[in-house]
Amino acid sequence: MCGIVGFTGNKPASPILLDGLEKLEYRGYDSAGIAVLNDNKIKTAKTTERIRNLFEKTDNGKTVPGSIGIGHTRWATHGGPSTTNAHPHLSGDAKFAVVHNGIIENYVELKEELISEGVEFASETDTEVVPRLLEKYYKGDLLDAVCQVVKKLDGSFALGIICTDYPETLVAAKKFSPLIIGKGKGENYIASDVTALISHTRDVVYLEDDTVAVLTKNDINLYDYNKNEVAVKVSHINWDIAAAEKGGYDYFMMKEMCEEPRAIRQTIEPRIKDGEVVLEDISLDKEALRKINRISIVACGSAYHAGIVGKYVMEEMLRIPVDVDLASEYRYRNPITDSKTLTIIISQSGETADTLAALNEAKQRGSRVLSIVNVVGSSIAKASDDVIYTWAGPEIAVATTKGYTTQLSVLYLFAIWAAKTLGTVDDKTLSEITNSLKNVPNAIDRVLDQKDKIREMAKHSVDSQSLFFIGRNIDYAVSLEASLKLKEISYIHSEAYAAGELKHGTISLIEEGRTVIALACQTDLYDKMLSNIKEVRARGAYVVACANEGETGVAAEAEEVIYIPRVHKFLRAAVEIIPFQLYAYYVAELKGLDIDKPRNLAKSVTVE
Ligand code: AGP
Repeated sequence: MCGIVGFTGNKPASPILLDGLEKLEYRGYDSAGIAVLNDNKIKTAKTTERIRNLFEKTDNGKTVPGSIGIGHTRWATHGGPSTTNAHPHLSGDAKFAVVHNGIIENYVELKEELISEGVEFASETDTEVVPRLLEKYYKGDLLDAVCQVVKKLDGSFALGIICTDYPETLVAAKKFSPLIIGKGKGENYIASDVTALISHTRDVVYLEDDTVAVLTKNDINLYDYNKNEVAVKVSHINWDIAAAEKGGYDYFMMKEMCEEPRAIRQTIEPRIKDGEVVLEDISLDKEALRKINRISIVACGSAYHAGIVGKYVMEEMLRIPVDVDLASEYRYRNPITDSKTLTIIISQSGETADTLAALNEAKQRGSRVLSIVNVVGSSIAKASDDVIYTWAGPEIAVATTKGYTTQLSVLYLFAIWAAKTLGTVDDKTLSEITNSLKNVPNAIDRVLDQKDKIREMAKHSVDSQSLFFIGRNIDYAVSLEASLKLKEISYIHSEAYAAGELKHGTISLIEEGRTVIALACQTDLYDKMLSNIKEVRARGAYVVACANEGETGVAAEAEEVIYIPRVHKFLRAAVEIIPFQLYAYYVAELKGLDIDKPRNLAKSVTVE
């Protein structure tokens, strides 16, 4: 989704902006641009190709000189991808340049008003109303004009603004879309996320909603929309640069899969003390937990799939009903929730617009909100009553891998902690599950060792038009995620089905040669899965099975088998998904696709 960078200081701005935009490429975009102010004039450069093209077009930034500027990667919503629609957008008098992330919901009304006053628009974007309104309201005081304009905007926005009358001042404003400030020495920055900043500074200011920031090279001042000054709170980031870069791998996705054991260790180990789970980060205590009679998990995409695993595990362990909702559905279905419901929000980025809106909906209706989030200081983290962070480090590839397995890890920790607190599982079993959880990273390492075998197996699916994943219980939840992984990066259609449901219709699609990936890792349901595998095989399916080590009987029923090391049955999803993250990766690689930036997708979905 759109990305913003901005710089003011003494160095040439263009190379810094271009480098920042390249770091933000992973968010997904279809055009990009920069605007730099020099000698009282704003010069822009734009492309509908990759950021590399902007480097070439501008001779690595040399043709766009100046030491203050803004840059943007655009993920088209209003108006197709073109250089005209690409940001930065200028006012008619070319005094202002603006970059924007989000959606201005009342832009039609604002645009019509401006058109009736004689303004001619150059683009089809919602964003262009901003520089046009700045031109209208500017009477020599930049902060005053920005405050007047942002008050008129409905919807979501992160804005970066420069003005020819202020040759050293970079202005930013935020409402619901992510934006942070980087504090340097004699230079300051804005960016959509830390990946664009950490090569320059680790000191950041997380901009609150409804705030305007005025930056010069030496100062950062924050204001509310009435121009009242707001305190500036600087935080320090601990992520290292290497963690945010590819480190020798062809794609971030492979790097991030290889990091899964470490990411899970980082997430679980500090929270297991003397064999018991300790959740020091949350204020939810025994008394509050006892009052909860329902858990409602809300998320999107893979985070939603992690939530489905969470449902199976928590209902078993806590004997509390658990619902799982897609955030985009939850927010518009008049959800039933109250103070006795614990809403668990799951989000890697912490910025997903639907998930954030669902969170606010749940809160307004009196529910207590606990979030599982990766990005510290993100909007979802800030809006929640409690946050349990996944300590996965930056995730760059659009297709989540370590984000998902660390979300599962936190759900497991929470389930163990809540079962102990509520006394719903005996101590011996809890200690078995906790010990097994500590062993999950090793088990994943052993699956990663099977990379070459999985790459060979993936060759079979390169030319497939469509395939099926089937499973029961937690295996079904994993099937949903395995199927999404394959779809998003290999562009092959696939469907995940509860194995017992196939015979109610979908089995009519099983024909000679159709690949069916059968997940048979839930021991209690192993025999049932064998029957389902026989059913599809009898109709000509090519079966790839996944089973626990030692359960070799399945080999007689499948063309190929992937074995996973045994961990406790509740924890298996975190191990069982790994072969299918790899499978999707290799199919995409064999097809020569851009694995980290699949078409039409964005890493952080900050619009509806
Ligand atoms: C998964 O690979 C996705 N790219 C996507 O489904 C993602 O999980 C979803 O958009 C939710 O994102 P979040 O975790 O950042 O909220």
